[in-house]
Amino acid sequence: MAAARRPLVAGNWKMNGLKGSIAELDKVMAAAADYTGKVELMVCPPSTLVAQFAARAQGSPIAIGAQDCHAEAAGAFTGDLSAEMLKDAGAVAVIVGHSERRTYHKETDAEVRAKALAAWRAGLMAIVCVGETKDERVAGKTLEVVGRQVEGSLPDGTTPANLVIAYEPVWAIGTGLTPTTADVAEAHGFIRAEVAKRFGQAVADGVRIQYGGSVKPSNAKELMSVSDVDGALVGGASLKADDFLGIASAYL
Ligand code: 13P
Repeated sequence: MAAARRPLVAGNWKMNGLKGSIAELDKVMAAAADYTGKVELMVCPPSTLVAQFAARAQGSPIAIGAQDCHAEAAGAFTGDLSAEMLKDAGAVAVIVGHSERRTYHKETDAEVRAKALAAWRAGLMAIVCVGETKDERVAGKTLEVVGRQVEGSLPDGTTPANLVIAYEPVWAIGTGLTPTTADVAEAHGFIRAEVAKRFGQAVADGVRIQYGGSVKPSNAKELMSVSDVDGALVGGASLKADDFLGIASAYL
């Protein structure tokens, strides 16, 4: 069934990038044809750049996503952005429940689920992030934690078309550390089994599960070849087009 899942390599730029950074998008777009049909490419710049990037990428195979949204469509929420606004700016997807938002903004699974629903309401795909902390892994609680996050963060109605799961061990983000391939396989297989229990085998077979956390060109091939890994959510290495493309090259 894996052949039916088109891998998705997405760059999460986090709070990085100014107008001039469009040069990196241009470089990715220039190479995009080589990847078409093998792997989907997405760039998620900060919200200030979503409209500019989406306009530039229009008609190219590069999708533009956002990094977070509010659960409401509009209202008195100073500083927040709705999924509708991101869609209006040209985004096709939004990351929700990234560990940095769960940690720094105290987002709960229920809030993440509400944001995923907001994404769907606006016509966006939701990229839902899950992953354990170092302490949780050391305590042997990885699957318990990830299972709880998957259960709590994925809305009813999840399909392969409207949702992607990103497994991002918190301790692997920005640290240069990565789990063993056996650990990645265990987590991804577990997540797919949980999805199958709740949404049925067809949804589980089709839904993409990205790995995220210190993915770089030098380790991408190994990580992307692990069973049940359907692409990557890339942080730091996505800021340079050469590195981002180097990671996606795992699928060429
Ligand atoms: P790094 O690739 O910088 O470890 O970040 C991963 C991540 O958090 C992507 O969402």
